[in-house]
Amino acid sequence: MKVALTGADGLLGGELGAVLKDGGYDLAPILERDVDIVDAAAVRAGLRDIAPELLIHCASYTRVDSAESDIDRVYAVNAFGTFHLARTAAELDCRFVYISTDYVFDGALDRPYRPEDEPAPLNVYGRSKLAGEMLVRTYAPSWTIIRSSSLYGHNGNGFPEKLCRRAIGGGELRVVEDQISSPTYAPELARGIVELLEAAEGGVYHLTNTGAVSWYEFARVLAEELGLPNELTPVSSSEFDAPARRPAYSALDNTAARELGVELRPWRSALREYLEREAEELRTLAGLPSGGEGS
Ligand SMILES: NC(=O)c1ccc[n+]([C@@H]2O[C@H](COP(=O)([O-])OP(=O)(O)OC[C@H]3O[C@@H](n4cnc5c(N)ncnc54)[C@H](OP(=O)(O)O)[C@@H]3O)[C@@H](O)[C@H]2O)c1
Repeated sequence: MKVALTGADGLLGGELGAVLKDGGYDLAPILERDVDIVDAAAVRAGLRDIAPELLIHCASYTRVDSAESDIDRVYAVNAFGTFHLARTAAELDCRFVYISTDYVFDGALDRPYRPEDEPAPLNVYGRSKLAGEMLVRTYAPSWTIIRSSSLYGHNGNGFPEKLCRRAIGGGELRVVEDQISSPTYAPELARGIVELLEAAEGGVYHLTNTGAVSWYEFARVLAEELGLPNELTPVSSSEFDAPARRPAYSALDNTAARELGVELRPWRSALREYLEREAEELRTLAGLPSGGEGS
């Protein structure tokens, strides 16, 4: 089956491309340098050229804090870019899979969010992704929306890399303790997405590693595994003062995917696998000599 994949060189897209190829799909990666999804004509020409049966839309403006002051570009990419893709998918009668986020929710619930819970995003990024979801539902002929959260992996700049860069010099690391989510390992999510799209007819699904943890607790485990000497200090979101507001609790309820036989591991076990491959690199990023704990 011919599959077009946007964002194919991103954190998740890189892993998805590898899983699709391994699974025997005929993969057509769509890279920004070839097709800027903001450009409707380029999207139309690019997709018509490929003529995919399935489009996985993984490209996105993902810089949550920058998004607050870059609103035109964020909507151009996440809303209008998605619209251009959905309309062309309709012309080609191509199935559409849209990757979305836990940040469509406000985090006010005291249980994991179900796919049918009412979205109420707190920041520009979340609002633009929700707009993308609505455009997919409206214009794509056959669609599946898969929301995930707090990605980290081997192709990008996730929380572990950012933490390790801040760790250089051994100083205090302040990490928010009042934002709880399910950190999700991109290679495992990629496998889950492909299983899910093979099992599901369509609809909205949540897919994350299981369990929920605060960024502070996640950082504490990472620091311990990597042997970072830094002192970690839990701080509140208001003390941290990031430009974008984030949900306090955005664990996702994965039941719908699990009922189709698709389930990711607990976050702690996925993190262990990630560190088996990445610990040396992370220690180097943190300015530590190689060969320590976790390596
Ligand atoms: N990261 C997370 O924690 C997280 C959490 C939940 C959901 N998600 C969702 O998961 C998906 C993948 O996220 P990610 O973290 O893997 O993203 P990422 O690493 O930031 O990659 C984004 C990709 O989108 C491409 N892109 C950006 N603007 C584009 C444009 N105008 N035209 C074409 N391509 C464009 C980028 O290409 P260039 O590199 O060439 O710019 C890159 O390949 C997104 O839908 C995101 O909303 C992410």
